[in-house]
Amino acid sequence: MADPTKKDEAADQKGAPRDATPNVTEVDVVEAASVEEVEAVLDAPVERGEPILQVRNLVKHFPLTQGILFKRQIGAVKAVDGVSFDLYQGETLGIVGESGCGKSTVAKLLMTLERATAGEVFYKGQDITKLSGRALKAVRRNIQMVFQDPYTSLNPRMTVGDIIGEPFEIHPEVAPKGDRRRKVQDLLDVVGLNPEYINRYPHQFSGGQRQRIGIARGLALNPEIIICDEPVSALDVSVQAQVINLMEKLQDEFNLSYLFIAHDLSIVRHISDRVGVMYLGKMAEIGTDEEIYDHPTHPYTQALLSAVPVPDPEARDGRERIILSGDVPSPANPPSGCRFRTRCWKAEDKCAKEVPLLAIPERFVGQNTPAAHESACHFAEEKDVVHA
Ligand SMILES: Nc1ncnc2c1ncn2[C@@H]1O[C@H](COP(=O)(O)OP(=O)(O)OP(=O)(O)O)[C@@H](O)[C@H]1O
Ligand code: SF4
Ligand SMILES: [Mg+2]
Repeated sequence: MADPTKKDEAADQKGAPRDATPNVTEVDVVEAASVEEVEAVLDAPVERGEPILQVRNLVKHFPLTQGILFKRQIGAVKAVDGVSFDLYQGETLGIVGESGCGKSTVAKLLMTLERATAGEVFYKGQDITKLSGRALKAVRRNIQMVFQDPYTSLNPRMTVGDIIGEPFEIHPEVAPKGDRRRKVQDLLDVVGLNPEYINRYPHQFSGGQRQRIGIARGLALNPEIIICDEPVSALDVSVQAQVINLMEKLQDEFNLSYLFIAHDLSIVRHISDRVGVMYLGKMAEIGTDEEIYDHPTHPYTQALLSAVPVPDPEARDGRERIILSGDVPSPANPPSGCRFRTRCWKAEDKCAKEVPLLAIPERFVGQNTPAAHESACHFAEEKDVVHA
């Protein structure tokens, strides 16, 4: 299998067949009869480049209800509506898309903070959407989250030591009581903060430092996967780069896999090995950073990229800016067929009738071109988009 964490050198050689990284691979479901067996499966290491998380047809519909005493369901917000992807061990998979497209809902489903309406999330071959009790607790230890806002995600009345050490209360097996202070100081050091700050409160730190505290807390239980939901969006641009660099360093040091959600396309490109573009609860396009940024085939990705500010005036002059008309439709009532059709300049009758599947477009199958990656469009084709 292709290792998505390594750049595909073979594909760059002229005439060599492209070894596209599949978005989904076959799930090797592991049957475990007891909690002990589940725990043993979860403790087993996954080799670099092998899938560690396999998301299949994930659906989250939030019910819309009416009435006060007798609530009845009148519809549903289709926040996530059939999303599938693999996260490979050691890689960073970026997820981008407009506000409300379902990114955070995907994150919460993977963290099992929300229960899926349908679909599966396989972690090391175990469907975590079906787990509960001790087995689920073991999963939660290995999959951690770093949140967007370092100002509100840290309890202002707790010291940094208590905040970072809080996960040890739930998982005392990771750090016995007598060892916790030293462990927290090690974590402060790992994220570039002075271990002597252990008794300080969040308000005594800058925004970037607070996000380092959030990252230290995320690392406390030695997780394998970190779900990062807009981890640098609330920070100044100069601080963003420092935090991103820290996250890259930690990924190498601790062999982490990241799902990295963000609005900023440039940041996502910088940190990601592969990128998925979401639109209205569905995955529109997914591929390596080069495939998505330099060879996008989905009109929505092309429009998003064309909106990224270009600092170079010469490049800016020759660029075609794609302005999308209309607002994003409501996820409670998405358009039939292709969900992007109400804003797509290429839409035809077929787009209203048939849901485009996320697959390598037929015209590119077997071709040695970076356009041969998965795109959910009936008329997928490359378009030159000048972007930063
Ligand atoms: N608990 C909930 N109840 C009802 N609807 C919800 C709930 N949580 C999210 N939604 C809706 O689901 C859709 C997807 O929301 P989500 O927060 O996942 O989007 P997002 O891509 O993370 O957006 P943003 O970029 O603004 O963070 C939105 O329409 C949102 O209003
Ligand atoms: S399927 Fe049709 S509406 Fe959807 S992106 Fe492609 S061309 Fe546009
Ligand atoms: Mg969000």
